[in-house]
Amino acid sequence: MIKVINLENQENASYYAAIQIIKQLKTQSNSVLGLATGGTMIELYKSLNHLIHVNCIDLSDVKTFNLDEYININSNHEQSYKTYMYNNFIKQNKTFNEENFFIPNGNADDLQTEIERYEKLIKHYGYIDLQILGIGENGHIGFNEPGTAFTSKTHIVNLEASTIEANSRYFNTSEEVPNQAITMGISTILKAKKIILLAFGESKKYALRKLLDGNIEESLPASILNKHSNVEILVDNQALGI
Ligand code: PGA
Repeated sequence: MIKVINLENQENASYYAAIQIIKQLKTQSNSVLGLATGGTMIELYKSLNHLIHVNCIDLSDVKTFNLDEYININSNHEQSYKTYMYNNFIKQNKTFNEENFFIPNGNADDLQTEIERYEKLIKHYGYIDLQILGIGENGHIGFNEPGTAFTSKTHIVNLEASTIEANSRYFNTSEEVPNQAITMGISTILKAKKIILLAFGESKKYALRKLLDGNIEESLPASILNKHSNVEILVDNQALGI
């Protein structure tokens, strides 16, 4: 079941999402969190770091799995998602144990082994308790682009031209944007007990409207969320078109 909550702007919605994460961590100190990157999540990490601090939350038993990582980008590159997580979350939280931070390795010598390793690791920890998701302009979740099988596990993807274009704002030129990534699969994401999806801005309006239409089709990966029992979608006015 999907519950849509309009919090009018990104700041409010990010704070609301951060409160949900704090509640999860207070209920279960060894929670497995599924984390996301991208522009949408910047404010969320700011609010989350603040709330972790003021609530004195001990993160030492928390495990985190990131949704995706680019292939063939140095993990120290300023635009790798590993670097993003260090800057926006890990560095800010002294009680977080880096050994509990998991992200696909897009530089692995054997990418096939890497995707299998990542999937097994998520399974080993009992799958995700609370998954945070963004949504692509084309309706992708993680980097599961349109047409990805709903049954997919962690896999390698060729990024769509529209995704490369959307991400090029973080790179000097669009040629520099990696064109492949490793992503958690759709079936892996769906095993999460609870999912919170954040969608902000006019550019997400189309994908959000299609998702909320309720038609479940692989051409809009996020539409499968209509089948999940516990999804909250937090939006701003622009994403709703009001
Ligand atoms: P964005 O990406 O937060 O940079 O818009 C979201 C996504 O592609 O899932």
